[in-house]
Amino acid sequence: MRALGRRVEDFARKSCRAFPLEELYRLGRDDRPQLARLIHQEIAIRNAQLCKELLLLPFGLAETAGVRKVVECFSSYVDWLSEFPAPSKDDAAFTELLKQILKDNADITRTVGGAVLEVRSALGEAQYEEVRTEVDLILDRFFIKRIGLRFLIQHHIEAAEASSDGSGIIRSMEVGNVLRAAAAEARSAVVEEFGLAPQVEVIGDGAEIPLVHTNTYATGSSLSRPIPKQDCFTHVPSHVHFICFQLLRNACQAAVGNWKRRQCQEQRELLLAVASDAAAQQSQSVPLGRATVAGFPIMSRKLMQLPEGLAPVRAIFAHGREDVSIKVSDEGGGIPRSELQQAWSYYGTGDDRAAGVGLPLSRLHARYYGGDVVLKSMEGFGTDVYVFLDRPPMAPPRHLRDISETPSRAITFSPRKIHRLSLNSRALNP
Ligand SMILES: Nc1ncnc2c1ncn2[C@@H]1O[C@H](COP(=O)(O)OP(=O)(O)OP(=O)(O)O)[C@@H](O)[C@H]1O
Ligand SMILES: [Mg+2]
Repeated sequence: MRALGRRVEDFARKSCRAFPLEELYRLGRDDRPQLARLIHQEIAIRNAQLCKELLLLPFGLAETAGVRKVVECFSSYVDWLSEFPAPSKDDAAFTELLKQILKDNADITRTVGGAVLEVRSALGEAQYEEVRTEVDLILDRFFIKRIGLRFLIQHHIEAAEASSDGSGIIRSMEVGNVLRAAAAEARSAVVEEFGLAPQVEVIGDGAEIPLVHTNTYATGSSLSRPIPKQDCFTHVPSHVHFICFQLLRNACQAAVGNWKRRQCQEQRELLLAVASDAAAQQSQSVPLGRATVAGFPIMSRKLMQLPEGLAPVRAIFAHGREDVSIKVSDEGGGIPRSELQQAWSYYGTGDDRAAGVGLPLSRLHARYYGGDVVLKSMEGFGTDVYVFLDRPPMAPPRHLRDISETPSRAITFSPRKIHRLSLNSRALNP
């Protein structure tokens, strides 16, 4: 095993601290210098502990170039932080340092992907299948720790901006607006990839009229009404955005992929019909190749430019008592049941882009806060993905600002959530 620097070893021996969300909320809003002092040490400790864990990974993962690069990167953060004096009242320089760390110059997700692909090709497909579940658990553990770490960093950076609707990255949010922003991003990513993307309907706050099935949600339905003020939802919008973007991009990709497959099928059928017509007229067989050359380019251009029959993706959301739920539905053909497990697996596609993290990372982001992501597929039709975001009995922002005066009403996250979070934190700080 490769040796770590003394500093990293020293920090790794210290214990890390669990931060209840309420405390982070309060510190981010009222006492940033104290938040800076607390996380200065904490981030160094957590990075050092991650380095130690990474070097103990099984299946040859610890020896891969990717893991070595990640360890090098995290060790350098420990050095930066330990050389940095304890933050004082003016923490601007410390915030700058955190921004450097958050930038993630090593592109950790892709680098870890490279490590997994290296192990996979060394073991061979059959043997990798035997250890896949365990590798996924290792990656769950690694990425949830990273979410926790980045949460602290992002929270401190964003707490620098005064805000009336929250504290740092914990904010009152409108799910419809987050979904619409994520949909725009997802669509443009898919246009870049495929040249076209389906419409995305966002239904739940009455801001959009559904393109199809207009009578499914009657005028009286709660989905077609604006969200009442007292129903406001405090969460971490940047993380909800991440989840929505990943799921909407998957849905748009599937919809376009399925549509293109159908177009090709129709073209093939049309060409066969043309060929057999011509053959019948000339009473002799026409080679299919000639009909293809004559007909295909014209039809192909025409059909590809007109995405007729490209069903929209729909994102429906609802504010319940316990959860805010989102359902992303597409008609992208679904996923065969035998492939479902692989879809949730990290880097499951096995291609050299080190892609295949959208689903597992979305679920991890939801679970981090006590929520979940669940996928239901109808092979041959489409996929529904449900996101459940744990919803505490949240006070509107006006009350959140009164936390110090009225502690009993000042609930930023429910006791259930804090309990779950501390469970997560225990997992984070074993
Ligand atoms: N809505 C969907 N319809 C059909 N297949 C889907 C859908 N969502 C996910 N999948 C399948 O699950 C696989 C894993 O999805 P995931 O988002 O984790 O990775 P990815 O999309 O391949 O890559 P990336 O890391 O860029 O998101 C996809 O490659 C696709 O085969
Ligand atoms: Mg994806």
